[in-house]
Amino acid sequence: MNILILGSGGREHAFAYKISESIRCNKLYVAPGNAGTSEIGTNISIAVTDFKAIKETVIKRQITMVVVGPEDPLVKGIVDFFHSDSELKDVLLIGPSMAGALLEGSKERAKEFMINHQIPTAAYQSFTKKSVSEGKLFLETLSSPYVLKADGLAAGKGVLIINNILEAQQELENMLTHAKFGTASSTVVIEEFLDGIELSVFVLTDGKNYKILPTAKDYKRIGEGDMGLNTGGMGAISPIPFVDKKFMKKIEDRIVIPTVKGLQEEQIDYKGFIFIGLIKVNNDPFVIEYNVRMGDPETEVVLPRIKTDLITLLEATANQNLDKIKLEIDNKTAATVMLVSGGYPEAYEKGKVISGLDTISDSIVFHAGTLNNGDHILTNGGRVIAITSMGNNFKEALGKSYKSIEKLHFDKMNFRSDIGFDLT
Ligand code: AMP
Ligand code: GLY
Repeated sequence: MNILILGSGGREHAFAYKISESIRCNKLYVAPGNAGTSEIGTNISIAVTDFKAIKETVIKRQITMVVVGPEDPLVKGIVDFFHSDSELKDVLLIGPSMAGALLEGSKERAKEFMINHQIPTAAYQSFTKKSVSEGKLFLETLSSPYVLKADGLAAGKGVLIINNILEAQQELENMLTHAKFGTASSTVVIEEFLDGIELSVFVLTDGKNYKILPTAKDYKRIGEGDMGLNTGGMGAISPIPFVDKKFMKKIEDRIVIPTVKGLQEEQIDYKGFIFIGLIKVNNDPFVIEYNVRMGDPETEVVLPRIKTDLITLLEATANQNLDKIKLEIDNKTAATVMLVSGGYPEAYEKGKVISGLDTISDSIVFHAGTLNNGDHILTNGGRVIAITSMGNNFKEALGKSYKSIEKLHFDKMNFRSDIGFDLT
């Protein structure tokens, strides 16, 4: 099978790595890809939202399956575009339709979906420019801290958690009246703060059947001890030690089953990944968000643990026969540590030479923001490389990643040395 992966991060390198391991993979293309994906497939320099160029590539290269990495093309309707085009309609696509992608594209829509299908989530109300004053009054009925969420996609920055009521009211006004996050904040969801520990659950669904993939926990803050600015993710661990069978059953019964049923009841075409962000409050799971794709860097710890042939798994997803597949998971723990450019998530420089990559033997090197200029592998983004290792427990796996990192270097390289600090 000829396969095209859309995206250019560590997530897409992990997909490419797993897909290229399959004997069923003929030609592998990644658009636009990075220096890592170019070592196992062919990079094609087109943007993930350039549907016309993607169509040309799919036809020219006789692609059978397209795996969509990031949310942007999904929210913009790539699946609907393929299904409505007579030349593309038989191509297998991994990702939801535009209606499905709205679960990530609109926080208000996601909350509505959860309420309609009795999926546990924080109590909320949403507000627009016309209802700023009602929003301010609503904040007064809640207790601190206050959670304000821009409805639309805001590059992971649209959620504010504020302790002070006056500040929260001011920020609500900034979002609604002064377009703090552009059109993404023309509607704002205000919700109850949930006090607990976060985790992520990944589901692969064909729209009827589902498979629960390994759980993972990511570390979003730039600084040690979970301090400082939010990033795309600085590291991840799978499985999560505090998730036992009993808790997983609650997640499946209260969240996964009603979510898949809800999609079916609403006749939403959804053949792809659902990434459910949860908070464990006491011993109960609550949904804080849906993403309609895999996480990054969670993919770098989830996929290495999947033993089932990934092409077969994805093909069954697109063909709606996931029930025929046995999902096999490696019991080992996977841990990944992200190497980032100095300054990230704020301004940072690119084009630094990365050295030591050839010396790593105990870990898997997943490239994120990297570029091969013919002579060297250079940094080309904020998040540069994810170093994944496997072990009998998360400490052993992390130990291997940190040892591998000692052999790597680029100017102003930064990483968190405390991934897993909150786990026992
Ligand atoms: P989201 O983009 O919805 O995942 O929100 C970003 C981050 O804000 C999450 O990873 C949580 O750490 C936090 N968060 C979101 N909603 C809540 C909530 N209702 N209570 C507590 N923390 C939240
Ligand atoms: N690591 C979080 C995300 O992919 O959204």
